[in-house]
Amino acid sequence: MLRINGVSKSYDRGATWAVKNLSLHVQRGEIFGFLGPNGAGKTTTLRMIVGLLPIDEGEILVDGYDVTKDPIQAKRRIGFLPDSPNIYDRLSGLEYVRFIADIYGVPEKQRIERTQRLLEMFEMTEAAGDLIKSYSHGMRQKIALTAALVHQPPLLILDEPMVGLDPRSSALFRRTMREHCDAGGTVLFSTHVLEVAERICDRVGIINKGVLIAHGTMDELRKDQDSDADLEALFFQLTETNIDETP
Ligand SMILES: Nc1ncnc2c1ncn2[C@@H]1O[C@H](COP(=O)(O)OP(=O)(O)O)[C@@H](O)[C@H]1O
Ligand SMILES: [Mg+2]
Repeated sequence: MLRINGVSKSYDRGATWAVKNLSLHVQRGEIFGFLGPNGAGKTTTLRMIVGLLPIDEGEILVDGYDVTKDPIQAKRRIGFLPDSPNIYDRLSGLEYVRFIADIYGVPEKQRIERTQRLLEMFEMTEAAGDLIKSYSHGMRQKIALTAALVHQPPLLILDEPMVGLDPRSSALFRRTMREHCDAGGTVLFSTHVLEVAERICDRVGIINKGVLIAHGTMDELRKDQDSDADLEALFFQLTETNIDETP
């Protein structure tokens, strides 16, 4: 579903690399967790996939469409939840979802059905008519996720979706991701929260300093490490973070 082939990105013309020669394939129907510490290059990678950042080297294919050469076809297949949803404050949640649905050309009947179902699931039906500026962070996330799903994208990409969510909302997000895959979709999401990845991912890729240092199922990663370490120990081991330095 998603093929990243030898992708690099620099913000300062090659002096330093935010992402270096990254290759990663995400299979249809899986939840892939993109795991790494702050500054590892997760957001940079996701923004290249969705076409918000130009790629310096390499190529990215979404369902066979090159995101640089065929951006419209690639974007049609993607739903994206950015790390900080700075969405239109002056629209209501419902107006925002409709606006996004219109951009993707979702027919009215489907838009209404899907929006109702998602809002209900996210317990946002009542608040949907209120202006987004009155929303809490979690409510914004829910509206942004509703908008990301309203065109039923085959590939759902989420940048740190669980940050700042209460346990209930977080569980709803996990359920939504699983349902998306059960319906034939694919999910790629980034996180620095290890338990989140361990709990819901079919496979993970660990990125550190712009380089993919490990990928596979949790079992495969543990095997590679030749130990029974849980993900946290493994994560610290692979990223060479001293566990004592973490709060
Ligand atoms: N707009 C930017 N300009 C310059 N450097 C950036 C910019 N965005 C990110 N970086 C740098 O690129 C690296 C990767 O950042 P990012 O992709 O945001 O990591 P993550 O999402 O994994 O925390 C970091 O060293 C960060 O400082
Ligand atoms: Mg980030």
